[in-house]
Amino acid sequence: METRRDGWVSSQFQAPKGVSEYFPPRSNLFERVIQTLISPALAAGYEPIELPIFEDTELFTRGVGESTDVVSKEMYTFEDRGGRSITLRPEGTAGVMRAVIEHNLDRGQLPVKLYYKGPFFRAERPQAGRYRQFYQFGIEAIGINDPQLDAEVIAIAYLGYKRLGLKNFVLHLTSLGDSESRKAHRSALISHIEKMHLDEETRLRAAKNPLRLFDDKRREIQSQMQGAPLLLDYLNDVSKSNFAAVQKALQSIGIPYEVNPRMVRGLDYYTGTTFEFVHSGLGAQSGIGGGGRYDGLMETLGGQDLSGIGFGLGIDRVILAMEAEGLSISNERYTDLFVVSLGEKAREESFVIINQLRNQGFVVEQSYGDRALKGAMKAADKSGARFTMVIGDAELTSGSIELKNMATGETTSVTLSALAQTLAEKSRQL
Ligand code: HAM
Repeated sequence: METRRDGWVSSQFQAPKGVSEYFPPRSNLFERVIQTLISPALAAGYEPIELPIFEDTELFTRGVGESTDVVSKEMYTFEDRGGRSITLRPEGTAGVMRAVIEHNLDRGQLPVKLYYKGPFFRAERPQAGRYRQFYQFGIEAIGINDPQLDAEVIAIAYLGYKRLGLKNFVLHLTSLGDSESRKAHRSALISHIEKMHLDEETRLRAAKNPLRLFDDKRREIQSQMQGAPLLLDYLNDVSKSNFAAVQKALQSIGIPYEVNPRMVRGLDYYTGTTFEFVHSGLGAQSGIGGGGRYDGLMETLGGQDLSGIGFGLGIDRVILAMEAEGLSISNERYTDLFVVSLGEKAREESFVIINQLRNQGFVVEQSYGDRALKGAMKAADKSGARFTMVIGDAELTSGSIELKNMATGETTSVTLSALAQTLAEKSRQL
């Protein structure tokens, strides 16, 4: 904060509390992470969907569930100018289902396979790896209930992490079973909970979704939940064989996992297969991605009774995980050529040459303004360009320049007309 002599108090603007943002050089890693995570989804036939960042509040209260922290405590909800209740999307699945229903995407070939990426919003207490605006890459496969599809979805996330070079993560897997299995487990769990000592708020929360108590971090709750009945022990034969088939499919393609029967996802729509990828280098916010199957969500939102499965991967945490494993590259920018031009005439000519080279697909940077040679060469060095060239009056007259390989220091005389061809040949040799 600064007070000027005339009494005006000026303060420097800062980003709102708890948002994640990316600027060079780290923003290059951000883009690479997204593109890499998308690649296995493209190979499996998923198509992009771009959705609004805000939706009707009710989409999330109904879709995600009122017992969840996400809905009860963390939504950015406001009234728009027309008096409608609007919420910044805290997650992607409900919006995708809304769009699938609204645009009849589920009336053609099934499954509908979609992917999305972008910012999501949860008013959480900010800490390392937990932000109020964060980024996800997600996929959803809607309309088919097949254990191979569950394994495919998990494999896409796994492959994406692997392609980024990540090693120190574990896939936690469980099944929440079908509705019959969940019903049997629910009544056993409720009888267990009735005997527990709980405050009023927790009891109300448990009444909405008793599974939530598995996720309660307070020690007094955790100790009372030690002997609580586990859903995996209540799976009926259909659910059991379904879960076995998912595991068999994962084994057949070499994807390691740990069955974790106490895992509870933070959203209420899950049924059947659920999973989370946990990284060991991130402290408390260790979930780098998670997802699962959601029977019933589509019907709850007014659509057909179709099942779906998907995941959301936390881009911010994936980046932190890469940094924890020493996988980030500080400068990912790639430049073929840096052009230094000296004098007005050379600047005019090189502007045209640079434009031609860029149109041919080369990444070309240049010095701007009337910079002295020394400063311009410094900029060339900093750019990390593979080659540099200086163009001045002498080069214009002779029609030939010296192309300098910045790694070896070696220079080659090249005519301006052969520049593109030489650059292409030399790049191929690298
Ligand atoms: P989720 O587990 O709530 O699932 O979020 C997915 C991932 O987003 C988490 O594993 C984490 O990496 C990241 N994430 C969540 N909250 C934050 C935060 N405050 N700051 C940074 N990263 C965060 C879903 O959102 C589901 N829609 C996933 C899904 C798709 N399930 C089925 N289809």
